[in-house]
Amino acid sequence: MIYAGILAGGKGTRMGNVPMPKQFLTLNDKAIIIHTLEKFILSNRIDAIYIAVPKEWVQYTKDLIQKHQLHIDKVQVIEGGAERNETIMQVVQTIEQQYGLQEEDILLTHDAVRPFLTHRIINENIDAGLAYGAVDTVISAIDTIVDSEDGEFISEIPVRSRMFQGQTPQTFNMMKLKELYSKLTEEEKDILTDACKIFALKGEKVKLVRGESFNIKVTTPYDLNVANAILKGSLDR
Ligand code: CTP
Repeated sequence: MIYAGILAGGKGTRMGNVPMPKQFLTLNDKAIIIHTLEKFILSNRIDAIYIAVPKEWVQYTKDLIQKHQLHIDKVQVIEGGAERNETIMQVVQTIEQQYGLQEEDILLTHDAVRPFLTHRIINENIDAGLAYGAVDTVISAIDTIVDSEDGEFISEIPVRSRMFQGQTPQTFNMMKLKELYSKLTEEEKDILTDACKIFALKGEKVKLVRGESFNIKVTTPYDLNVANAILKGSLDR
């Protein structure tokens, strides 16, 4: 089976003083999380979609989905975890309880606050996820990346052509993800905040899929302006 987990368990602290977590803020009169959900609903290869939100936003999200007439059987709202990876594991646990885990099952994990992902990105994540068991969506680094251990002086400047910026979806074979995550110590869990890093550090191959520069993550108030501009651009086309 092919599952999608829309990760919306965060509080959006970097968005500053807004009345609700950023995934519920609106772009063009529609909550960001709904824009994202619509993209996954349109993919007929995905068997079930889980949206993980903070506990106090579960009912609100269900109502929102109903309001937009997206309350179809394959969409479920669940409670997220305290950390992003814990939210992913909540999704895995729920799937295991409901369907059991099969060898070939994959999960596309996606930031709820990246509403501009495309059908191509979803499809390539599915294909590569089935073939390789772990996938990261990336774009080539545009700026030179400067590595500084202390934030004061340069430690290293890696070759730019080898540098990529991570986006989502990140797609995983669920049995493998569960196995690797269960072996992490508490300290490792603190460091391995990126789920692909769990695979990479354990020596597992992670396939790269090309993202899009417009597949931005809405993090700050500035990003909301950019997102509105991207949306307007696509409406104008
Ligand atoms: N996320 C999640 N569960 C968490 C933390 C984050 O599902 N416990 C999700 C967020 O809702 C978001 C995505 O992971 O869709 C990317 O995280 P980020 O942009 O860091 O979101 P927040 O944690 O909400 O933002 P901030 O770091 O500014 O508080």
